[in-house]
Amino acid sequence: MARGAHLAGACRALLLAGLLASFLPAAEPSCPRDTSLVKDVGRMHQSSYGIDGFSHITVAGALAHGLKEVEVWLQTIVPGERTPIHRHSCEEVFVVLKGKGTLLLGSSTLKYPGQPQEIPIFQNSTFTVPVNDPHQVVNSDEHEDLQVLVVISRPPVKIFLYDDWSMPHTAAKLKFPFVWDEDCLPAPKDEL
Ligand SMILES: *[C@@H]1O[C@H](CO)[C@@H](O)[C@H](O)[C@H]1NC(C)=O
Repeated sequence: MARGAHLAGACRALLLAGLLASFLPAAEPSCPRDTSLVKDVGRMHQSSYGIDGFSHITVAGALAHGLKEVEVWLQTIVPGERTPIHRHSCEEVFVVLKGKGTLLLGSSTLKYPGQPQEIPIFQNSTFTVPVNDPHQVVNSDEHEDLQVLVVISRPPVKIFLYDDWSMPHTAAKLKFPFVWDEDCLPAPKDEL
């Protein structure tokens, strides 16, 4: 493509983005450097980050709030939806605030996760996912949202994603920074 046409295209895209921005209400930044001591969780940035039927709030984060040892998330999964199958080498503690579901837990000792254990989780239950064990949290209820408070160690989280339970651990794909941390890292350099 001629450079002129390329630039014109880029200008049109910028113009369009400008127009859209002027019509849309200003979105709350997803990575606010909010240093206030007490925050209203209900007003913090919430997004699906492209995961169907899922909502995530970084209640207290490494990149957004400067934590070094732990991070706290509030996540909601709608009926019938689930997290991806994944593993990480940090510790993870869940407290189920609402709803019920299933923790699917694979093995880190076989070459691949294998047939997962199915562990019921329910309102007011708490559980810890063993380090490096592939797992998936499922809202198996037909009506009610599943809401969990999650605490992880050693943020920001480095997540390895599996397509299914028979995918070898070595084939799981590292997604780093994970979707909710992407906005908080420095913007990539302009390639022009
Ligand atoms: C969970 O705890 C709350 C507060 O104590 C209580 O109102 C609710 O009934 C409990 N839920 C279940 C399923 O036990």
